[in-house]
Amino acid sequence: MRKILVTSALPYANGPIHIGHLVEYIQTDIWVRAQRLRGNKCIYICADDTHGTAIMIRAQREGITPEELIASVREQHLASFTGMGIRFDNYGSTNAPENYESCKEIWTALRAAGLVHEKKVTQLFDTQAGTFLADRFVKGTCPKCGAQDQYGDSCDKCGATYSPADLKDPISALSGTTPELRDAEHLMVEIERLRPFLTEWTQQGNHLQPEIANYLAGHFLCDELRDWDISRPAPYFGFEIPDSPGNYWYVWFDAPIGYIGSTRVWCEKNGENWEDWWKNPETEIHHFIGKDITYFHTLFWPAMLKTAGFNLPEKVHIHGMLTTNGEKMSKSKGTFIKADTYLKYLDPAYLRYYFASKLTGRVDDVDLNFSDIREKVNSDLVGKLVNLASRTAKFMKDLGLSATYPEDGGLFAFGASQMEEIAQAYEECDFARVTRLVMAIGDRANKFVEDSAPWTLRKDPAKQQELQDVCTIALNIFRQMVIYLSPILPKLAEQSAQLLDETVESWSIESVQKPLCGTKVNEFSHLMARMDEKVIDAMIEETKEENKPVDTENTAGTEENAPKSQWDDSAQPLTDEPLEEMCTIDDFCKVDLRVARIVMAEEVPEARKLLHLTLSLGGDVTKNVFAGIKSAYKPEDLVGRLVVCVANLQPRQMKFGMSEAMICAAGPGGKDIFVLSPDTGAVPGQRVH
Ligand code: 2FM
Ligand code: ZN
Repeated sequence: MRKILVTSALPYANGPIHIGHLVEYIQTDIWVRAQRLRGNKCIYICADDTHGTAIMIRAQREGITPEELIASVREQHLASFTGMGIRFDNYGSTNAPENYESCKEIWTALRAAGLVHEKKVTQLFDTQAGTFLADRFVKGTCPKCGAQDQYGDSCDKCGATYSPADLKDPISALSGTTPELRDAEHLMVEIERLRPFLTEWTQQGNHLQPEIANYLAGHFLCDELRDWDISRPAPYFGFEIPDSPGNYWYVWFDAPIGYIGSTRVWCEKNGENWEDWWKNPETEIHHFIGKDITYFHTLFWPAMLKTAGFNLPEKVHIHGMLTTNGEKMSKSKGTFIKADTYLKYLDPAYLRYYFASKLTGRVDDVDLNFSDIREKVNSDLVGKLVNLASRTAKFMKDLGLSATYPEDGGLFAFGASQMEEIAQAYEECDFARVTRLVMAIGDRANKFVEDSAPWTLRKDPAKQQELQDVCTIALNIFRQMVIYLSPILPKLAEQSAQLLDETVESWSIESVQKPLCGTKVNEFSHLMARMDEKVIDAMIEETKEENKPVDTENTAGTEENAPKSQWDDSAQPLTDEPLEEMCTIDDFCKVDLRVARIVMAEEVPEARKLLHLTLSLGGDVTKNVFAGIKSAYKPEDLVGRLVVCVANLQPRQMKFGMSEAMICAAGPGGKDIFVLSPDTGAVPGQRVH
């Protein structure tokens, strides 16, 4: 049994998780689950990357402390990851005390090795905001081509790169004032002294994909490595450097150390010793990252680990970036989709399977094409996989699986024979090959079901044994496919195990070798719906709405007035509709508010204001509702949405039918009606307190 510690890059705690991030988390989650299916001990460690100027500034703008900001973003991140079926063993924070401890240890080692020295660095300083400006917080005129409105580090017109001090007419993005140049002492790490080690580590031993090793050799290791500026002067949100008061570790120092900090937290909770993971040659460390942060993970990070005597990564798995419909993700085109928005409309299994079918273990970019995903989900998952069960399980409820496995012309043996190759494909992150190999098993099995036509056998009382045998074969191949795909489709795996009266925990990859016989088949319940084009369109529309530019004119200005202008809510709504007189908690509890899903929405042609809705409260419980929201919503945009409804309202006979509940909405009416939605994670039937 291997002992494997796996990480994904730590997302910044200043924005939501979007589908671009998910390429990595889904990929890593699949790899971890595949390792466990193969019987290895494998833990998946991640955390929020919480430090740096951007987070400090955003907190100031919102009028909260950085700690409050990172706590709320953490909740959002965790909800998105859970919704997508991504299961970490520990999700920590780089701001945790455990991380500080590890930073100190590595820092002490860098100092002891004599790798740190001081250097005067000249940077732009915003006197009004009282802070040095990171490159992205200053704009001005390109010193090379004269293009206006360029960032402090590079010009997107002529491609020149420069230092912010060279920018002409610089303006601080924080206060709109002209910054001045100021000197400060920074701490630098002489990474050049580790170049011989880094050359050996990157070029030998299969720690990196060959294209990455070549890139590093050709771009960095062929020349002297520049010193790494590892400190930032106050004010900065981060850890203050113990032996350099007033200076903070640059966010990229404590971020990768967050992998260790988060492991420590997991170890504390699980009675393990973190050094058994990070200072033990028996452990394999695997990092999954995007190609944009290669430099940090393949040069600085191994240099830090080596100096401090920690395990070096066994492998850094580097993937490309996500494009949508062949282009960069775009806010205005509605393709910059947040995980939460995705989850409002679509099953996470679709995206997990689609990404899997595109990931090959190489560094190429991954494209999410919206007609392609629909085609792939409908043809592979619904057409080839779920169909095997949905066309046979319903005939097996009373019969159960045949007592001995019937003659199947080699179908089962073929599925079983794919095990090693599928395991190897998972190991290499070639999930595209996994999906191809598994679908080839499905092709044979579907042809068998088609030819055997259980739906015809069922009508002939003399053919019940044959019916049972055909369905036993189909369900066993279905089971093999689901076991193979369980790292990609964990929820479907759970439902399928339940159908076959097993548990997912009882499955290992070897379970594909032995057919299931003589056991009961539970009631078949719906496993997966086809992917609908309209739903994808609605998700894209919502993303466009979310990203509509807001008028930023009033939200610029100094940090002191920023919170006011940003939260400058009008008093009008309360004036228009003053607060009701007090009610008691008992009064409130009489109103039974529930989360509900709109499962049907249609126009009522004769009614000017009404839409006819069916709300599901989960299971078989539905409510018929006529809601006065026609002026603000199209029926097709509502289907699938979660809402809050008054579930115990006395039914009311209306001209068009009985209205049995009410959905909650705000706003004065007309176009300004805003239906309330719960946050991601809520499910129909839950009470709203
Ligand atoms: O690029 C990013 O999003 C960084 N927050 C990744 C950090 S990965 C690790 F080093 F912590
Ligand atoms: Zn330029």
